[in-house]
Amino acid sequence: MPKVFIRTFGCQMNVYDSERMVEALSEKGYAETASLEDADLVILNTCHIREKAAEKVYSDLGRVRQVKEERDANGQQTLVAVVGCVAQAEGPEIAARAPVVDLVVGPQSYHRLPGLIDKAQARPKTRALIDTAFPEDDKFQELPERAITHAPTAFLTVQEGCDRFCTFCVVPYTRGMEYSRSVAEVESEARRLVAGGVREITLLGQNVNAFHGEGPDGEAWSLAQLIRRLAQIEGLARLRFTTSHPNDMAEDLIAAHGIEPKLMPYLHLPFQAGADRILAAMNRKHTARDYLDLVARIRAAQPEIALSTDIIVGFPGETEAEFAATLRLVEEVGFAQAYSFKYSPRPGTPGAKLADQVSDGIKTERLARLKELLDSQQTAFNARFVGRTIPVLFERPGRRPGQLIGRSPYLQSVHAEAPAEARGQILPVEILSFGPNSLAGVIRSA
Ligand code: SAH
Ligand code: SF4
Ligand code: F3S
Repeated sequence: MPKVFIRTFGCQMNVYDSERMVEALSEKGYAETASLEDADLVILNTCHIREKAAEKVYSDLGRVRQVKEERDANGQQTLVAVVGCVAQAEGPEIAARAPVVDLVVGPQSYHRLPGLIDKAQARPKTRALIDTAFPEDDKFQELPERAITHAPTAFLTVQEGCDRFCTFCVVPYTRGMEYSRSVAEVESEARRLVAGGVREITLLGQNVNAFHGEGPDGEAWSLAQLIRRLAQIEGLARLRFTTSHPNDMAEDLIAAHGIEPKLMPYLHLPFQAGADRILAAMNRKHTARDYLDLVARIRAAQPEIALSTDIIVGFPGETEAEFAATLRLVEEVGFAQAYSFKYSPRPGTPGAKLADQVSDGIKTERLARLKELLDSQQTAFNARFVGRTIPVLFERPGRRPGQLIGRSPYLQSVHAEAPAEARGQILPVEILSFGPNSLAGVIRSA
């Protein structure tokens, strides 16, 4: 049986895509392997969001070339595919820079991977085959049905692409135009996942709350309508969604957080920067005040909600005073968790062409100050749970024998002594201690 090794970079959507690729390849007889040396097919599923992420591909390809040469010497063939967002953005450059690559396939055409493999194997290699057209055919229609997993949690892509064109971001170029799957398609995939034992589904989209898929009545349904529909699936205990744009937080979605018990009290809502001049230059189309007002409305609907965000420091032209506005916004909101990044100029985006780029030294220093504030908020958020008993969905073995790791409703990792059968169950855990990134406690009988 041929073996496939897949390495995934970037966001949850890439994690989802990798799973779907492995499923499609298993129909072709491939079994997944965790060892690069054993792989007849090596796939790198790549991310283009920041320069560091994109460059990682080329260093990985160096290692892949070594392994391929060793396998060649033993008479074993190795096919190498670069897929995902770097493939989309830099297809011809990859083919030119890395002759080891046989296939370059974009995020909207990976359903054609099995056919492309045959094509690559059938011809004498000159240079990589590139398939990065945004195809007319819909990959979701072409892929085999979702395989039955046996994991307690799963990702499910419901929306792809983005039409917002924030001036720092490559996603509209790598993933293409915004597109929503139909409610029926999403529901049938969700039902298959739940039938296999999945208890929690995270709905994915680059701009997930812009979801407007066709509903059973032929109308465009909102994300809140989709959530209410999925919440009716018996056996499904928890729903989450990510990532949202503040301007697409519709009233019905805000309200859903207060009324749908299966929708977890956690929301990832990037604001990127605290100064209105920078927000405008980023083309975010909202102000800091708009964001604060939105947060107030969300908290009015669900006072328990844990908020998370994405923040960029050192966007071109950002002054010290403007960075201070970012710190201020963080202080005013209070986040349970956050991701913060140094601005990385990306080829083809308007931000990269701006003249007043901020030096790396200043970005590093601002990021450190921001992280310190975010870490202290996260630790304070976790500290509040000591002594409380909260429902934990146990997902996987912990580091120590006899221990399992699960998630709280607020997406914190929770460690507890638990029997192996507790995996996939939601059990009450009394929290005894906390760290910056996790909680620990003991299971209490319900
Ligand atoms: N769709 C999501 C974000 C996708 S990218 C949204 O609209 O919020 C994830 C995060 O990476 C972004 O929220 C942003 O904070 C960060 N990011 C995107 N482009 C970046 C760049 N050029 N430099 C640094 N960080 C970037
Ligand atoms: Fe990128 Fe998100 Fe802006 Fe779309 S909304 S361009 S994915 S940051
Ligand atoms: Fe990266 Fe593409 Fe996701 S650029 S963040 S893998 S959409």
